[in-house]
Amino acid sequence: MTADGLPMTVPAQDLPARVRIHEVGARDGLQNEKTTVPTEVKAEFVGRLAEAGLTTIEATSFVHPKWVPQLADAEQLFPMVSHLPVALPVLVPNERGLDRALALGARRVAVFASATESFAKANLNRTVDEALAMFEPVIRRAKADRVHVRGYLSMCFGDPWEGPVPVHQVVRVCTALRDLGCDELSLGDTIGVATPGHVLTLLSALNEAGVPTNVIGVHFHDTYGQALANTLAALQHGVTTVDASAGGLGGCPYARSATGNLATEDLVWMLHGLGIETGVDLGRLTATSVWMAERLGRPSPSRTVRALSHKDQ
Ligand code: HMG
Ligand code: MG
Repeated sequence: MTADGLPMTVPAQDLPARVRIHEVGARDGLQNEKTTVPTEVKAEFVGRLAEAGLTTIEATSFVHPKWVPQLADAEQLFPMVSHLPVALPVLVPNERGLDRALALGARRVAVFASATESFAKANLNRTVDEALAMFEPVIRRAKADRVHVRGYLSMCFGDPWEGPVPVHQVVRVCTALRDLGCDELSLGDTIGVATPGHVLTLLSALNEAGVPTNVIGVHFHDTYGQALANTLAALQHGVTTVDASAGGLGGCPYARSATGNLATEDLVWMLHGLGIETGVDLGRLTATSVWMAERLGRPSPSRTVRALSHKDQ
C-alpha cells in the first residue's frame, strides 16, 4: 500500500485499460435492508457516490411497493437526484413501472429476467417466458423513446431451489433478451455460487451464441467470497462493465441465500492495483460507505472499507 492509502500499481497482461463500474448500492443494496432508509439519506448517498466519481448509479426501482417496500419512495427520490451529471438507471419490471419511470424523465431502464422458473415465480410472479412477454412492450416502448435498456438475468450460475443452472438455459434467456432489444446484459450470480471456470464457460457459450462480450456486464454477489476472482476471470475474457455495491450492501429480498454484492471498494482496490482506470476516488467512496454504515447501524462488510477506515487506529 502507498502512504496515501492506495494500492501499489502493478499491471498484468491482457486486461482492459478502463472498467465502467455500474454502482448498485442504492438499489440492490438498499432494497434488502430491514430498515427503510429515509429518502433524504438515499438522495445524499447517490450524490456522494457521484462525487466519488461513479458515473453509472442505479438509483431505485419502479416495482410494486408491496413487493419491495424499501424502494417505495421511487417517485420522491428520483427527482431529488436527476440533476446529477451521471447515468441513473432504474429497474422497471413492466409497463406500469416504465410509465412511472418515463414520467419522471428516466433515460435508462433495466428489466430483470431469470434463468430459472423458481426465481421467475418468486421475483416476478411469472414463468420465465411470461416474464419475457411482460418485458417485450417495455423494451419496445423504451427503445422507441431512445431510452437505454439493460437486461438483467438472475440465477446464471445456481439457484437456491433448483441447484446448478445449465449454461444452455442461461444462454437461451440471454439471447431472448438481446432479441427483444436490450442494449446491454448483466449476468447475475444472485446467490454468489459462481467460480471463475464457470464464468469463463458461460461467457464463451454466449459468444458462440452470437452475444458479443462488449454488451455483457457481470453482477456478482459475494456469498462465498468468489466475487473478485470471478470478476478477474471476466476481465481476462474482455468484459469491461462490472456491477458493484458501495460498502458491499445488498442481496435480494426474493432469494434468501443472497448476500451482499461485490463491494465497490474491494473492486476499485483490485482494479487500481492492476492499473485499470475507473475514475473513482477510493478515499471518498470509502468515506461514503462508512457514513452509510453509520446510518444503517452496522459496519460495512467490505474488507477494503474496514482496512482503510481502521488504518490510522
Ligand atoms: P403481480 O402481483 O403479478 O402484479 O406482480 P400484477 O401485474 O398482477 O398487478 C397487480 C397490481 O399491482 C395492479 O394494481 C398493478 O397496477 C400493480 P391493481 O390493479 O390491483 O390496483 N402494479 C404496480 N404498481 C406499481 N408499480 C409497478 C406495478 N406493477 C403492477 N411496476 C410485479 C408483478 C412484477 C409487479 C411484482 O412481482 C414486482 O414488483 N416484482 C419486483 C421484485 C423485485 O423488485 N425484486 C428485486 C429486483 S431483482 C434483483 O434484485 C436481482 C438483480 O440484482 C440481479 C441479480 O442479483 O441476480 C437485478
Ligand atoms: Mg443483485
